[in-house]
Amino acid sequence: MTAHSRNVAAESAPGALKFAYWVPNVSGGLVISKIEQRTSHDIDYNRKLAQIAEQNGFDYALSQIRFTAGYGAEFQHEPVTFSQALLEATTRLKVIAALLPGPWNPAVAAKQIATLNQLYGGRVAVNVVSGWFRGEFAAIGEPWLDHDERYRRSEEFIRALRGIWSEDNFTFRGDFYRFNNYTLKPKPSDPQPEVFQGGSSRAARDMAARVSDWYFTNGNTPEEIKKQADDIRAKAAQNGHSVKVGVNAFLIARESEAEAREVLAEIIAKADPEAVNAFGHEVKNAGKASPEGQGNWAKSSFEDLVQYNDGFRSNLIGTPEQIAERIVRLKNAGADLILLAFLHFQEEVEYFGKHVIPLVRQLEADQKLAVAAE
Ligand SMILES: Cc1cc2nc3c(=O)[nH]c(=O)nc-3n(C[C@H](O)[C@H](O)[C@H](O)COP(=O)(O)O)c2cc1C
Repeated sequence: MTAHSRNVAAESAPGALKFAYWVPNVSGGLVISKIEQRTSHDIDYNRKLAQIAEQNGFDYALSQIRFTAGYGAEFQHEPVTFSQALLEATTRLKVIAALLPGPWNPAVAAKQIATLNQLYGGRVAVNVVSGWFRGEFAAIGEPWLDHDERYRRSEEFIRALRGIWSEDNFTFRGDFYRFNNYTLKPKPSDPQPEVFQGGSSRAARDMAARVSDWYFTNGNTPEEIKKQADDIRAKAAQNGHSVKVGVNAFLIARESEAEAREVLAEIIAKADPEAVNAFGHEVKNAGKASPEGQGNWAKSSFEDLVQYNDGFRSNLIGTPEQIAERIVRLKNAGADLILLAFLHFQEEVEYFGKHVIPLVRQLEADQKLAVAAE
């Protein structure tokens, strides 16, 4: 085994909840607030963070794609290149590179990811995002498609990736992409890179139920997560497909609940109203064309939007014990993975790994015993 190859022994047990963290590859942290954040988008900070994460029980790191500043993220590093740097700095963490169909063509993306798969022992995955920021598309001269059309393109993009990765003489006749007898060499090793996707709208769910390995959704209560998970799993089963669910959360673990709540209150009090409202305007506008109105931010309040994927709604704010119990409730509601953001990433990723994950593992083991005893 090389230093970069898969370390199966270190992976979490089958059925165990997985943990991912948001890579801060854009500036300003993961909340739109002027509160002090000891988080940096620079590469040295991020290399160290990735190492801390893999030493503290995290399975995945999720990078972000932004072409222009939105929600105040003034500087943005490109996610595939950045993911490679994180893979180079680690030995078992899986790194999810964000890809945006439109700017990314599937032939280039399939090749980039196949090469990373070969270089880093299969540790690269992708998150295919569909876009919500019209101004960003205008800035880089990309046509802006209607909401459901963006998902139609993303689905073709994913089908193209999978076809290129698995078939020789791949031929595809889509409305957005075409391939003629194309053979990629070398292909990624088995298993193929995992395909994640983000979004909660009907179009997003239907795409997940047809082609994605993982469905990422915004933060929410266990009741709401259960509705989504049941819905897409039932649809996926009809398609002979299976899909896992990842739920976003902003995590504030402190020794007392009061302390954790105070931090949340300070984040909201120091929110940047101009940036939050501009973001709210963009995302509500982006989701308007989703006919059923269930998009990711359809019900988000000002406070929710301060964490730009509704991370406070998952309520992982309190003591390690409270958080561990709530995480297991999300698991019981259908989550397979919890995606986490923090105020001070390096310190808090480590704290989470040392003080919360062991409690989650204990609760999972207790549940298993209880089920076995029934
Ligand atoms: C976990 C997660 C990560 C996402 N990452 C990005 C990203 O890096 N860049 C981006 O432009 N959109 C990103 N998105 C946005 C989605 O791709 C999608 O455009 C958005 O959630 C709208 O969903 P809707 O169809 O439910 O309205 C992400 C969404 C989620 C849930």
